[in-house]
Amino acid sequence: MKTIIHNIGTLAGILPKDVRKLEGSQMNTVECIENAYLIIEDGVIADFGSCDSFCSDVAETMAAHGHVNGRGPQSGRDLVPATSEQKPDSETQYIDANGGFLMPAFCDSHTHIVYAGCRDGEFRDKIAGLSYEEIAARGGGILNSADLLHETSEDELYEQSMVRVREIMAMGTGAVEIKSGYGLTVEDELKMLRVIKRIKETAPLTVKANFLGAHAVGRAYKGRQSEYVDLVCNEMLPAVAAEGLADYVDVFCDAGFFTVEDTDKILSKAAEYGIIPKIHANELEVSGGVQVGVKHKALSVDHLEKTTDAEIEALRGSGTMPTMLPGCSFFLGIPYGNAKGYIEAGLPVALASDYNPGSSPSGNMRFVMALGCIRMRLTPEQSFNACTINTAYAMGVSDQLGSITVGKKANLIITKPVPSLAFIPYSHQTPVIDRVILGGQTIA
Ligand code: NIG
Ligand code: FE
Repeated sequence: MKTIIHNIGTLAGILPKDVRKLEGSQMNTVECIENAYLIIEDGVIADFGSCDSFCSDVAETMAAHGHVNGRGPQSGRDLVPATSEQKPDSETQYIDANGGFLMPAFCDSHTHIVYAGCRDGEFRDKIAGLSYEEIAARGGGILNSADLLHETSEDELYEQSMVRVREIMAMGTGAVEIKSGYGLTVEDELKMLRVIKRIKETAPLTVKANFLGAHAVGRAYKGRQSEYVDLVCNEMLPAVAAEGLADYVDVFCDAGFFTVEDTDKILSKAAEYGIIPKIHANELEVSGGVQVGVKHKALSVDHLEKTTDAEIEALRGSGTMPTMLPGCSFFLGIPYGNAKGYIEAGLPVALASDYNPGSSPSGNMRFVMALGCIRMRLTPEQSFNACTINTAYAMGVSDQLGSITVGKKANLIITKPVPSLAFIPYSHQTPVIDRVILGGQTIA
């Protein structure tokens, strides 16, 4: 199956094959071609370039065969002219981008989108003035979601989660990392991870699974945190590894949750199974989580609302991606991570949504990109790179996704005609996304 996208106003986010992430001043630019075409073959970017004569040839071919703009998996067939001597390849679909932007679909390297129900009751507590920590200390928060999840069947959890998966795909997300962590017992953590596996197998976006047994101490272990850590190490991790359910392991290393020592213990155990960490650190306090993450060669350390120069120094020269979650800062009213400071120090930065029922009930990566600009003062180019190639790196898929590169998976967004790259985060509520293509197929 071949798809030719022509009449692209701006093809944005072009990178050479070997680039896996951008750091420091490399984040300041987004390479573009104006007036471009792009060809997809078998779900992969096969070629792209400047239109020149190519697009007028395409337009002539389309006119000669009475083609209409293809939409949906069937449209390739619709486009085949009934009778024609010059019958083009019947497997070729033509898409007119109408002068819009064509860019890589967003990657979202940090979410908790598999959960049951929601926490709209706590939203009222929050509005009334309770902090995230106060809600958690009253037995709400993550434990509230764990109770709901326990009551929910695996099938029902899958259906509820797929509503959110479809929602984020329609908003342009082409790859998502999903964490467990609302189970907090061996059986319920496995239930969550099996749901994530099913999403991986059935949804057209790329999915990575992250085992977050150490998200909170399960209710049955109240006051016995070290015993719960032993449960994570000695029962949960072996069971998860035996079923091959986790690409990554996570720990909520923060004040009131898990200590650096707990984290070290869990990550050491995970290493025995070859599972790489991506961890929650420095959301509520400067927790030491960055340093323990770097020690264990974490792929990313996430949140970082609280940071000192020591964290920047710890990350320098490491392969660990500092990842910030501005949707969480927005919703909880806590500080935003110092993304600009990290970039000025020569480091890379990724942005992700943290989509979850307690601290960030939205998976809209375009809004994340906008918050990167509006609240973290990143330039549109820096924020674009943080939401594409760098967040792809933070979930281990930047060899296949996150840029316009021949050979990468064709997970793409086409926008309506917009005046500039800056317009995309600037007009953040205007519905500019015209079409989302995942694996070469139009899905929205
Ligand atoms: O990344 N901080 C820890 N975990 C999530 C929130 C989970 C929840 O409250 O349900 C986060 O913000
Ligand atoms: Fe999170």
